[in-house]
Amino acid sequence: MAEYTFLKGDQNWWRQAVIYQIYPRSFADGNGDGIGDLKGIISRVPYLKSLGIDAVWMSPFYPSQLADGGYDVDDYRNIDPRIGTLAEFDQLIEELHKNGIRLIADLVPNHSGDQHVWFQAALKAAPGSPERNRYIFRDGKGENGEIRPSELASHFGPTAWTRITEPDGTPGQWYMHLFAKEQPDWNWDNQEVREDFLKTIRFWSDRGVDGYRVDVAHALVKDLKNGHLPERQSFDVKVMKDDGTDDLFDRDEVHEIYASWREVFNEYDPPRMAVAEAWVHANRRPAYASTKGLGQSFNFDMLGAGWRTKKVREIADYNLTAAKKSGSSTTWVLSNHDIIRHATRFAFPMVSDFAGWYKANRFTAKPDIELGTARANAMTMLLLALPGSTYIYQGEELALQEVLDIPAEDMQDPQFFRNPELGLSRDGCRVPLPWTKTGSSFGFGSGGSHLPQPSWYGSVSVETQDGVQGSTLELYRKLINLRKQLQTSEEITWHRNWFAPKLLHFSRPGGWHCVTNFGNKPVKLPAGEVLASSQPLSDGKLPANTTAWIRA
Ligand code: NOJ
Ligand code: CA
Repeated sequence: MAEYTFLKGDQNWWRQAVIYQIYPRSFADGNGDGIGDLKGIISRVPYLKSLGIDAVWMSPFYPSQLADGGYDVDDYRNIDPRIGTLAEFDQLIEELHKNGIRLIADLVPNHSGDQHVWFQAALKAAPGSPERNRYIFRDGKGENGEIRPSELASHFGPTAWTRITEPDGTPGQWYMHLFAKEQPDWNWDNQEVREDFLKTIRFWSDRGVDGYRVDVAHALVKDLKNGHLPERQSFDVKVMKDDGTDDLFDRDEVHEIYASWREVFNEYDPPRMAVAEAWVHANRRPAYASTKGLGQSFNFDMLGAGWRTKKVREIADYNLTAAKKSGSSTTWVLSNHDIIRHATRFAFPMVSDFAGWYKANRFTAKPDIELGTARANAMTMLLLALPGSTYIYQGEELALQEVLDIPAEDMQDPQFFRNPELGLSRDGCRVPLPWTKTGSSFGFGSGGSHLPQPSWYGSVSVETQDGVQGSTLELYRKLINLRKQLQTSEEITWHRNWFAPKLLHFSRPGGWHCVTNFGNKPVKLPAGEVLASSQPLSDGKLPANTTAWIRA
């Protein structure tokens, strides 16, 4: 691995970084089989560089049966052959680093895939064996063990327990899976499991991986002592205890694991960073973000902010204060591979928050794409001005809309198969990117695309927007680069304008002002030089649904 000295030394590179999430199967296809791959990503490094991002976070690229889009990992220290090889992975890191871009890998420690050698060994071994003890196997209740061990639902279906057939052909034990049945949960009370993850972290860190996004970071340790088994039907954070004693999630003991990871992260220069995907009570996030633990924790609060001035301000304040207390920086997220794209959420004037979206709009309303794009861009611009790191999901730089009409037979998401009538699928944000106006799969690759692309895709492609003033792509490029020049200490000051209550205005040290108009009439801008705006100004005023950056 070549050493790039500029990547060394800066321990805090992630604190105010722009991180671009790649969902590898849907980014770019290098060999024309319809599935995105490392070759494809390598060929697009110049594009990534042109965005000005600091790092790429890559969703799982490991061997997987794709029961859950790669979050069912069969081998943590390898690459899915459909995605590439380890040699190509090394080449990708090299290319990224050469271009000043770091790489964050996705670690999935709560569960493996069911084809993992250890799960296969567990199936072949006897109840009570060390092999079974790496996962959570239990006898069923009832005379013949035919009743599941507890009333625990899974995120993808009514039960988190699946019964196996023992090697002798008889119905056997049950294993726990908080997600799909192909995703057996690890037993984190098992030392071998703990050591194997340290090995995985070293494996990728030695290859040059700069950090990790940690999947379901709050679920690893469960209370399984003295025959206890968690029972739960809802995964709403509200039903979770907030004091570290919940029997299923966010237990205090989980931090012992992250402390041991931190020791390994700190063996490297600079220390590897990590960001927790932890759906916990807000008061519990700082522990994941501790410098003795993972170091940063996602805050997904803006997903519920909608287009509401007060809410956005409250969320910003709350998270900036909390991050400061933990010694970390916060994160800003509007979209990812699990969420309806925010350009679509904002395209429905009434309900634009994540939770309410499906209920209100799934089958009824038509998106107002112009409004959605305007608000999405204004909101991204606001978040890019806040202290903290901003996570951007592939395609949002094109103001890509969610694909809402994927036929049922083409769906891949286990969430969809759970309740097909609700249409709850994450596939709509995972449709392969449009690179060109026309052509096979709009430039994604030469051989089609594993999820069907809509006919309008070419009209928002990279080719369509590249170099075009006023396009979302050029706006992102401009903002990300401008942000680098304006970046300053992690402080903000709010400014109130009593005549325009729907104007959200804050500044950062050095005279960097950010003003967003949440109202429906143009508003006079504060004095200063307008550096950028998410839509053209009208007669020198800030139009509705628009953000401007000003130097004052
Ligand atoms: C969160 C991931 O983002 C999601 O895609 C996945 O289904 C679950 N964790 C389970 O790994
Ligand atoms: Ca491919």
